[in-house]
Amino acid sequence: MTNNIPTGPQAGCATTMALVRQWLAQAQGRHKGLAVLTGAGVSAESGVPTFRDDSTGYWARFRPEDMASEAGYRRDPQHVWRWYEYRRELVRNVQPNAGHLALAQWVQRHPAGMTLITQNVDGLHQKAGSPDVLCLHGELLKNRWLNHRCAQCDLAHPAAGEPPYCPACGNLVRPAVVWFGESLPQGIWAEAEQAAQNCTLMLVVGTSGAVYPAAGLAQIARQAGARVVVINPRPTELDAMAHALLHGPSAELLPQLLCED
Ligand code: OAD
Repeated sequence: MTNNIPTGPQAGCATTMALVRQWLAQAQGRHKGLAVLTGAGVSAESGVPTFRDDSTGYWARFRPEDMASEAGYRRDPQHVWRWYEYRRELVRNVQPNAGHLALAQWVQRHPAGMTLITQNVDGLHQKAGSPDVLCLHGELLKNRWLNHRCAQCDLAHPAAGEPPYCPACGNLVRPAVVWFGESLPQGIWAEAEQAAQNCTLMLVVGTSGAVYPAAGLAQIARQAGARVVVINPRPTELDAMAHALLHGPSAELLPQLLCED
């Protein structure tokens, strides 16, 4: 791996884009040569708020320890449930953008070529047509039980409430997303780790790189010898370890990068 790769705005976006396209062409010929790690920014242009953007991110208005932790849910389940219902309504009514579609179209042309790993719970990669998405943080539109289930706990028929509950034991329904302090789904994480180890190019798209273990996939890929490219309009915590930075919105840059005309 060369150390003299031009990175960042000083390299000129067109030059960097051409270089990354070369890396992509190399990755394309290999089984799962490309790994893509996405975060909230990839859905920003679909109208889904990010978490850490200054004024528009969810964490500018809510505390993650209240809204994204088991303790927060136990403290005030109604409040937290209503927030997830609001987010569910939002994602049901938005559409994948050109970035999601470019990824889905690329994988349709190269079926064994890419592993798509996302921290997003919004389902927009799947709605765009990407198969086998590794959802590290769960799925917003699904539920599970808060406590161990009793024989009568039936997610298809809970008693109505905010949140719904089991009429037999009082167990509460909760969103099937991964909250702070919880483990990632083991099998999905194992597949993501393996993809990071085996790829030759990893695109890190629309994530601040602030949340681990997800952000650690970029380091795993780099240590295993892959090139790492960050695509983001703003600086991220992974810029320093990346081989190249493409500055801009992913709905513009992904179609430019992944089109094969
Ligand atoms: P963040 O909100 O931390 O970061 C969003 C990133 O998207 C930022 O780096 C923005 O600069 C970038 N961004 C904004 N608009 C963009 C655009 N149009 N195109 C590309 N990028 C854009 O979101 P994540 O990194 O995904 O976890 O956050 C990781 C995890 O932290 C989330 O999965 C969530 C959150 O707390 C849980 O809830 C467990």
